[in-house]
Amino acid sequence: MKTQHRLLALLSLCASLTAFSAGPVLAHGDVTPQAVDTKALPQLGDEWRPDNPYRSGDAHKEALRIGSSAYNQNCARCHGLEAVSGGIAPDLRKLDGDCVALADAKKKQACQSEISQFYATTVRKGRTRDGRVYMPPFDGVLSQEAVWAIKTYLESRHE
Ligand code: HEC
Repeated sequence: MKTQHRLLALLSLCASLTAFSAGPVLAHGDVTPQAVDTKALPQLGDEWRPDNPYRSGDAHKEALRIGSSAYNQNCARCHGLEAVSGGIAPDLRKLDGDCVALADAKKKQACQSEISQFYATTVRKGRTRDGRVYMPPFDGVLSQEAVWAIKTYLESRHE
């Protein structure tokens, strides 16, 4: 009986230690890239769009929902929960901050498109410096729909 008790105590100690050490990791999102179900969004085909097709219109709300979860699963561990950077990687809420401030509609559109292309290229190819991977490439992991859904989410997180 005594041994059994000691064993139980040991087991529960192990369990709480495991829960404790797993906590902070999970809090920053899953580590392996997660496939994202984008069937509910208008499909975009193989050719990449010059800008976020879900920024406005009917698909916006669904893109926001999917993008929020896709961001937290694939990007949050480096770029921060809810896009608030903890300093490891750039704060993505500021990505097109300069564009949003532009009054001229045409200039604003051109600016946003330029940032969108920079964004999509970075996400697809990742970032390597001096042979070290700073950010993994997401080509083949995230679909075009998922990449723009995440952009839609980031736009909703503007400062
Ligand atoms: C393993 C960590 C890591 C993950 C995961 C990650 N990134 Fe990054 N990302 C970085 C780092 C670090 C940089 C800055 C690289 C540099 O300075 O060259 C960066 C840069 C960027 C940039 C360019 C920002 C700028 O201002 O130059 C964008 C856009 C971006 N990431 C988007 C994303 C998105 C979207 C995801 C999820 C799909 C993601 N990243 C996942 C680490 C990560």
